[in-house]
Amino acid sequence: MSLLEKFERYQLTFGPTPIEHLPRLTAALGGKVDIYAKRDDCNSGLAMGGNKLRKLEYIVPDAIASGADTLVSIGGVQSNHTRMVAATAAKIGMKCVVIQEKWVPHYDAVYDRVGNILMTKLMGADSRLVEDGFDIGIRKSWEDAIQSVEDAGGKPYAIPAGASVHKFGGLGYVGFAEEVAAQEKDLGFIFDYIIVCVVTGSTQGGMIVGFAALNRADRVIGIDASGTLQQTRDQVRKIVDATSELVNLGRSVREDEIVINPDYAYPAYGVPSEETNEAIRLAARTEAMITDPVYEGKSMQGMIDLARKGFFSEGSKVLYAHLGGAPALNGYSYYYKDG
Ligand SMILES: Cc1ncc(COP(=O)(O)O)c(C=O)c1O
Repeated sequence: MSLLEKFERYQLTFGPTPIEHLPRLTAALGGKVDIYAKRDDCNSGLAMGGNKLRKLEYIVPDAIASGADTLVSIGGVQSNHTRMVAATAAKIGMKCVVIQEKWVPHYDAVYDRVGNILMTKLMGADSRLVEDGFDIGIRKSWEDAIQSVEDAGGKPYAIPAGASVHKFGGLGYVGFAEEVAAQEKDLGFIFDYIIVCVVTGSTQGGMIVGFAALNRADRVIGIDASGTLQQTRDQVRKIVDATSELVNLGRSVREDEIVINPDYAYPAYGVPSEETNEAIRLAARTEAMITDPVYEGKSMQGMIDLARKGFFSEGSKVLYAHLGGAPALNGYSYYYKDG
């Protein structure tokens, strides 16, 4: 039985996402572990999709029920999340205000004109650039934006960064775990590890709760891309506890069931290392699978390095959760001008 039965869901995605075998990446890593990807980057027709839509599916019913007319959220300049909130607002016929903070010390002449922010504006969102730096916590700029909607006579519905500390933010990825378990029945095997990028926490947090119900939460390996490990870990813990209670998991999740590897977030959030770029190139050249320098390139780098180091025992089946994010590549064109 699903842990999510009692929750209302507003469908924004196509449905279950495909699991794809990656034979050329598997071979490039020596062939000792079998690599697969679950393609949440291809989960919807809404503005190129991505992980936030799974979360927003459980938030939209509450937004509609509240009588709100404007979704208000926050992220960085090249935020995938604000793109997805703008898409959701357009789709359900609401207005949208998004704060885009200067989370990334990256300087590119078109950084605030292309990719995510371009699509966000195209979908009619009121995108407001703010100079503040990276922080996954509750921000004054966001609270000011909520107030500004009220002052103008609107009715805001507040969605925090990454939709993560929202009370329903963890539910979507509880569903991911249940979906994987159902797909494993058809595949005839069980994945030994799931690799997932973590920053604001509700993607991995939700997965941990979903897989805890199957007693395999410790096989979810979070690859930190925030560079602020303790804050991200604390936020994942909070989301895991709140979501476990919400879905009546029936037990508390142990500390050793929350696994986050900090080794690949360098040099900073939103800035790729040379190793990140090599990982992005390898996935692109072996599988035509496009990952980005902020999130998925770092979890790809982590998976590649862990496979090469022998972290996964021989014969393991590893599932890479591809969460989206490719539009941000446009803001980093100089890194990849020669491929
Ligand atoms: C493409 C992509 N991957 C991974 C993440 C990390 O997910 P979360 O913020 O839920 O930890 C995000 C959002 O922050 C994202 O946009």
